[in-house]
This record gives sequence, C-alpha cells and structure tokens, in this order.
Amino acid sequence: MEKSVKIFAPATVANVVCGFDVLGFAVDAPGDEVIMRLTNNPGITISKITGDNGRLPFDPRKNTVSVSVQHYLESIGRTDIGLDIELHKKMPIGSGLGSSSASTVAGLFAAKTLLGDETDAVRLLPFAMKGEEMACGHGHADNVAPALLGGFVLIRSYEPLDVVRLPHPKGLYCAIVFPDVDVPTREARQIIRNKIQMKDAVTQWGNIAGLVSGLFMNDIDLIGRSMKDILVEPVRSMLIPDFYKMREMAMELCAVSFGISGSGPSVFAFTRDEETAHQITQKLQQHLTRLRINSNIYVSEINDKGPKIIG
Ligand code: HSE
Repeated sequence: MEKSVKIFAPATVANVVCGFDVLGFAVDAPGDEVIMRLTNNPGITISKITGDNGRLPFDPRKNTVSVSVQHYLESIGRTDIGLDIELHKKMPIGSGLGSSSASTVAGLFAAKTLLGDETDAVRLLPFAMKGEEMACGHGHADNVAPALLGGFVLIRSYEPLDVVRLPHPKGLYCAIVFPDVDVPTREARQIIRNKIQMKDAVTQWGNIAGLVSGLFMNDIDLIGRSMKDILVEPVRSMLIPDFYKMREMAMELCAVSFGISGSGPSVFAFTRDEETAHQITQKLQQHLTRLRINSNIYVSEINDKGPKIIG
C-alpha cells in the first residue's frame, strides 16, 4: 500500500446553460490538489490548507473533503485506518466552477488510491454528493460527477442515481471568466423560481435534447443554438456584472455559445478553436477591469480524464 499520494481534480462547468442540475463537464484548468498520507492513528486529520484565505475549516467534521472521505471509509468498513489531508486550493472559492467538488473529488480519489480500491470511480459519487450537500445545502451531482469521471456527464436521474457519460466533439474549447464578486451557491439556488409554465418547460427540454443530440452528432451549430436557458439564467444573470454585455462581446467574437457556469459568477463560452477562446477571455477581462472588477481567466478543452495522480 502507498504511504502518501498527491491528486489533482478538475474544475467543472455545471448546468451547461440549459441543463440545470443534470449536465456538466470537466476542464483541464483550474483544479485543486490534495496530498493524503496514511498515519498510525485511526481517524482523519487536516494538517494544512492553502489558497483559501483562511475560509475553510480544519475541523474534519466540518470540512467537505474529510466528511466525504469519512463516509467512504465507513462504506468499505475501513474506519480503522488513519489519514492526514493537505488541501491546496488552486481555484477561487464560490466561483461557480465546482470548487468544493474539485477538493472533495481529489480527497476521495486520494483515499481510493491509497487503499488500492480498484472499483469504478463512479462508486465514489454518493460520497462526493454528501460533500456538496454540506457545502451548499443541496447534494447535486452535476459538478462532482464530471470532476470524478471526466468528460461530459448527464445525471439522468437522482433517485435512483443514474449517471451517463456523453461524447463531445473534438476541438471544442471552453473560455472561462471568473468575475471576482460574491455569489454563494446556496443563495443562487434560493432565488430560482420553483414553479414553471408548461410552455417554458417545453422550450427548455427541447434545448436539452438538442444539446445532447449535438454532442452525439458532433454538430457544433446545433450545440450552439440549443444552449439557451429561459428558466434559471434570467434570474441568476442579475447577480453577474454586465452579463448580457459580456454575452454580446463573446458572440461578436464568434463564440458558439455563452452562459453562466454553475451558479455563477463565472461565465463561459464554447469556441471552435483555442485562439478564439483566448480572444474572448482577454476581451471580457479588459471589460471587467474597466468596471473595476478583478477576474481570473482560463482556456481549456474538455477534460476527459477527471482526477489524476500527480505525486
Ligand atoms: N447545478 C448547480 C446550480 C451547480 O446551478 O446550483 C452549482 O455549481
């Protein structure tokens, strides 16, 4: 059995505009890192957290990483072992990029690797969802599933859990801009309407079906025209500075589509090539700078690998 392991787990873009709580994909960057060591004393400790500006708890009963790992150890009957966790946040918290999911998945994958557990990573999903529940009050899987499995993922059903890996066209790039304003997922979920009109539901499920068809058919135009959200975006966009202006700018630069990443405030665009993705991130960052808002920008392809051992 290995004595320690270092794992990277990727950020994720959930919802993918029209698929609230059911669609998500992983990106190459950013992501979080966890170093986990076997110790001689049973139980989980957290010895170090970096990159969080002191926001995350060291108490293993309150930290999403240790709580998820504890659930996993209980499920396999291995609460006899001791684990120490170092969490290195390499991405902003509360960004809409699946920050807590990346940490949780890195922790679970580290524990699985240390224990030599060869079962499919999808078995870790319910434990990762416990972490989400703790982080934002709801155990949705559209961040944790792609972080864990890589690629594009559909949560076909929550009860029972049914997760489907979807194909995607090669060469599709994702341009991400995180405007540094506070949008906690918990609150961004509370403002959503919980009753919808049938005609709106019809529009929305037409778009979800169109997006999934486009992924299977490698039809980027179909993907682009299907990525419309009439249910959640009109409400959440109010929390994002100049959301519609940023969309206009991205589409003028030939983005395939543009929308909110997860619960925001990050926004993302799909593009047909890397150069366009860089042009979009730079233009939007300049715009936010003019508004005196700091931002982080990332360009990535869709990450098909999920978590990986980096040390
Ligand atoms: N589907 C979740 C939401 C993702 O939109 O609230 C949170 O990142």
